[in-house]
Amino acid sequence: MKKTSPVSRSGRFGAGPGADVAQFTESVSFDWRLWQHDLLGSMAHATMLRKIGLLTKAEEIAIVKGLEAIGREIASGKFRWKLELEDVHMNIEAELTRRVPAGAKLHTGRSRNDQVALDMRLWLRDELCELSREIRLLQKSLVFLGAKNAEVLIPGYTHVQRAQPVYFAHHLLAYVEMLDRDYHRLSECFRRVNVCPLGSGAIAGSTLPLDRELVAKLLGFVDAKGMPQLTQNSMDAVSDRDFAVESCSIAALLAMHLSRLAEDLILWATAEFNFISMSDAYTTGSSLMPQKKNPDVAELARGKAARVFGNLVALLTLLKGLPMTYNRDLQEDKERLFDTIDTVRATVRLMASLLDNTTVKVKNCAAAASDPALLATDLADYLVRKGVPFRQAHHAVGALVALAEKVGKPLDEVTLEEFRGVDSHFGPDVADVFNLEKAMSRRVMTGAPGTREVKKQLARWMKLVR
Ligand code: ARG
Repeated sequence: MKKTSPVSRSGRFGAGPGADVAQFTESVSFDWRLWQHDLLGSMAHATMLRKIGLLTKAEEIAIVKGLEAIGREIASGKFRWKLELEDVHMNIEAELTRRVPAGAKLHTGRSRNDQVALDMRLWLRDELCELSREIRLLQKSLVFLGAKNAEVLIPGYTHVQRAQPVYFAHHLLAYVEMLDRDYHRLSECFRRVNVCPLGSGAIAGSTLPLDRELVAKLLGFVDAKGMPQLTQNSMDAVSDRDFAVESCSIAALLAMHLSRLAEDLILWATAEFNFISMSDAYTTGSSLMPQKKNPDVAELARGKAARVFGNLVALLTLLKGLPMTYNRDLQEDKERLFDTIDTVRATVRLMASLLDNTTVKVKNCAAAASDPALLATDLADYLVRKGVPFRQAHHAVGALVALAEKVGKPLDEVTLEEFRGVDSHFGPDVADVFNLEKAMSRRVMTGAPGTREVKKQLARWMKLVR
């Protein structure tokens, strides 16, 4: 009898693929990293096969022990991956079967189509948890930097033009909010990743009495109540990559947030702003200009968003014209997904340590925040409180700003006569408007950068991220 190999070509095919074809079609060079999840899936499948009587207890034990031994070899770097065995699944199965005769029964009721969908969901589950944890740590770095500089005020900007004063912490907490939405998006996405496709076979399930619920439970595909979560359509299950697209889409949003944070830090570190100083370890010098200290880590955090966006578009493009069900095109999903998760995880980590190693130049911030023009809106509000319609108040303050600019003095040095010359509603109490401390205490609404509100928000986040 001809010896059968686990390679799917055996039996049907004569000559094997040429070297160039093997090179072109292989995925083991990148999907090997699914090995732990592939082993876990196979162990659960073996346990289930024994439970339904398709494996003996001894066979199950031999398979599980064989898989564990292979796992140890892979972990120690001794396992020899073979390109001609295409992918992680066939490499492991072939090696198992070489060692354990019962290995030839492991693929019962299973296809690489449901196997790879399973492995990717298992892998992604772990990665999403790690990413969520790292997002919380980045939030913590932002909150701590804000808390350490709780009294620091800076100008807030619109159009990169000075707008109104805000606490430095308020600016950082804006990113904490963005990251929190990313965090929650990830947990919602996790629910949809956490669904077991095994048992879908190649496309149409199996005639064998597979216990899908058992496999799902063994692999932790359960909801909050412990109910097994199973894909409900075998054709959808083997061709669906929504879970990958959704993860990459959330990652793209996250990368965009990180990129904006990076941009703010880059601006703040310029001589023009000069609000912060990044530790040397996160910057580089110039090979030509000795004075340079370039914010490379932040720049790359900004730059890496580009590849994350590109990966998302690549995945969507990969899927858009695919007829049902599995098509080999789907193999192209992995590098895009892996790269996305690797990139955002590294960026989140690096941004956290960059923030942990950034100091705030308190004096420079105070000098910038003391620009009285930042309180021009407060001046208009002053008139509103005296009963002046806002449009009219806005116009009056605009005239005062022009007047101050013309004579070349700051807004808070305009005399009472000059104020009253523009609008008779101005009284001696107008000087109060330029008291920055009072100005900040007037911003009392939820979400405003007022003294009490920012303290409250810092305290709220401190509790959440600690
Ligand atoms: N390496 C393949 C992939 O990543 C595994 C599934 C292969 N299935 C198949 N029928 N050729 O998609």
